[in-house]
This record gives sequence, structure tokens and C-alpha cells, in this order.
Amino acid sequence: MSLFERANRIKEFLAEKIDYVPEAAIVLGSGLGEFSNEIQTDDVLHYKDIEGFPVSTVKGHAGKLIFGTVSGKKIVAMSGRFHLYEGYSTDDVTLPVRVFQLMGIKNYIVTNASGAVNITYRPGDLMIMNDHIGFFCPSVLTGNNDERFGTRFPSMSEAYNKDLIRIAECAAENIDINTQKGVYCYCKGPMFETPAEIRAARALGADAVGMSTVPEVVAAVHGNMRVLGISCITNMAAGILNQPLTHAEVMETGKAVEKKFSLFMKEIISLL
Ligand code: HPA
Repeated sequence: MSLFERANRIKEFLAEKIDYVPEAAIVLGSGLGEFSNEIQTDDVLHYKDIEGFPVSTVKGHAGKLIFGTVSGKKIVAMSGRFHLYEGYSTDDVTLPVRVFQLMGIKNYIVTNASGAVNITYRPGDLMIMNDHIGFFCPSVLTGNNDERFGTRFPSMSEAYNKDLIRIAECAAENIDINTQKGVYCYCKGPMFETPAEIRAARALGADAVGMSTVPEVVAAVHGNMRVLGISCITNMAAGILNQPLTHAEVMETGKAVEKKFSLFMKEIISLL
């Protein structure tokens, strides 16, 4: 079955349960799943109960699609996402965004945890993504192009929508939090990077590194969606501090900024 057919079947399954087009689809990254408590829920669907949907394997990724209201706006949130390092295909990783596209959702808001490459950043900072480096990421658009999704050679000149970046900046100001704005560099994972890789990423212009987001963003831009990316800096990247990185550290910082992140996301949604 083609990716289009898979995504379309799921869209039709969801249409039987949900009779509105959400204003935004929001992907909740590592340790940021708590935002789901802020949603006045209409319906929660576990990935395992959606035929054709992949199932998440990472600790801290719940695996459910939550439809409901935040700040008076209808949204759908993905609590738990799929990473290429788990062994999922590029089709599996981009399936949810294709479903959202076919549902007619215009705004794709993606969050993630990342390591700071920029040495002026600090764990707990929230970074508005203004671009990414995807050289190290397999292209999710390889193979025959399905014109029903988008054009063969999509522009990535403005992958992160300027209006949404402005909204995020306004939201940060309204709730009086500082944010960073920078470039996210995809690294394959699941191992953390080496100090030499981090120096290379810095030389290339990266401010943060992480193991997700870029595959989905490429599909969303291909599908003509407006993308906003918010990255939670959970740690200084490899080699900056004289200590090894752990997933526990990533989860701990994610947990510590949950409140700030939730507030920020709610304010962003209210301004959409
Ligand atoms: N590297 C890659 N991915 C990450 C990191 C990191 O330092 N922190 C959180 N996700």
C-alpha cells in the first residue's frame, strides 16, 4: 500500500470520530508529554488502536493521539513520536504528518529535546527553531514523488514559517519568558554525538542537536503546512562540559521545564 493510501485510510478512520479540522497538530517531544494534561479532551486514541499507525518504543513517549481544546482552539496532539533510530522507515516516521496534511490541518507545531551546541545556551532554555541542518538525515522524499502530497523539488528556504515564529516570540513576551532562536542540526542517534561531531556541527552553524524533527518537518513543508519548531535544550552537547551525557539528564531537564513549556505552548495556541 502506498503512503498516500495508508495515510488516507487513517484519515477516514479519524473522520468517523472527529468532526472538525484542528487548528494545529502538535508533536510533543521527550519529557514534554505532560502538556497533554492541559488539553480539554474530546477523544484519545492509542496508536495501537489505529490500524496502520506505528507504535512508539522510547521511554517517555506515551503513544497516543489526543483531540481536544487548548486556549479555546481545537488541536490534535501527538504524545509520542517515531524516530528513524528506532528502525522505523521514513514512511512510518512521516505517516502522522501526512495524516494531518490530508485532514486539512494547516499548522504543524513540533517540539523536541536537544543538546546545546551554542555555548551561550543553558539547559532549560527553549529555542524557537528558525532553520535546520538536515545533511545527516536520510531524505524522506526519496523515491517516486506522490504529487497528491507535494511537488518533486520543494523549497526549504523558509521551512519554519515566519508568521509562526513571530507568534512564538509574541507569546514568549506575553508570558515573560526568555527564548533562544536558532538552528537545529539533525544527528542520527541513538548514541549521543562525539565532541568532534559537536565541533563540526558548530562550525556548520548549528545551535542545537537532536535526533528527531527534521524528517517530519521536511514532509510537512513538502505538504505545504506551516511549521513551528520549539526545542527544549536539555543539556550541553557532548564535549562542552567535562561529563558524559545520559538520557536521564535529558528526561530530568524536560521534566523541570514542563510548566514553562506548557504555558508557552498554551499562549502560542491562543495567538494562532
Ligand atoms: N544530542 C542529541 N539529541 C539530544 C541531545 C543531544 O545532546 N539532547 C537531547 N536530545
